[in-house]
Amino acid sequence: MALSNKMEKALNAQINAEMYSSYLYLSMASDLNGKALDGFSNWMKIQAQEELYHAMKLYDFVLERGGSITLDAIEAPQTEWKNPLAIFQGAYKHELLVTSLINDLVDLAIKEKDHATNNFLQWYVEEQVEEEASADEVVQKLKLIGGKGNGLFMMDKELGARIPLFTFPAGE
Ligand code: FEO
Repeated sequence: MALSNKMEKALNAQINAEMYSSYLYLSMASDLNGKALDGFSNWMKIQAQEELYHAMKLYDFVLERGGSITLDAIEAPQTEWKNPLAIFQGAYKHELLVTSLINDLVDLAIKEKDHATNNFLQWYVEEQVEEEASADEVVQKLKLIGGKGNGLFMMDKELGARIPLFTFPAGE
C-alpha cells in the first residue's frame, strides 16, 4: 500500500520538525558553551545528533514506502537564554510539543488505516517517553541544586560524560 498524499505530507512535516529540534538543540548547546558549561553543551549537542537521527529514520521510511521527500526551510531557533534551567525547561517544553506532533501522526495513520505507518510510528511514541524524561531529569536536578555552585560544576562533569552518537574524523 502506497502512502497517501496526506500521510506523505505529514511525515515530511515531521522531518522538518525533527530537523528544527536538532537546530534548536544546537543553538542551546552553543549558548551553554558560551556560559562555560561544556558538559551541558556536550549533552545538548548529542541531543541534536539524536534529532538528526529521528529525521533520517522518517526520511528513509518515506522513501522505502515509495513516497517523495520535500524538504522545507528550517525555522531559525532562539539563540540566547537566561540560564541553564531556562534552556532545559525550554527543551522539555519542546519535547512535549514533539510528542503531540507524533500523537497527531498516529491519529492520522489510524484514520487512514495505514497500519505500516502506525507500526513505524510506535518507535517514536516510545522514544518520546524517553525524550521527555531525560530533559525533565536535568530540569529537576538543576532545581535541586539551585542552578549554581559546586552542584552545577558536578552536573556539568556528569553531562560531559555522555557519548556522542557519531564523531567527525579530526582534520577532515
Ligand atoms: Fe525527535 Fe527529541 O524528539
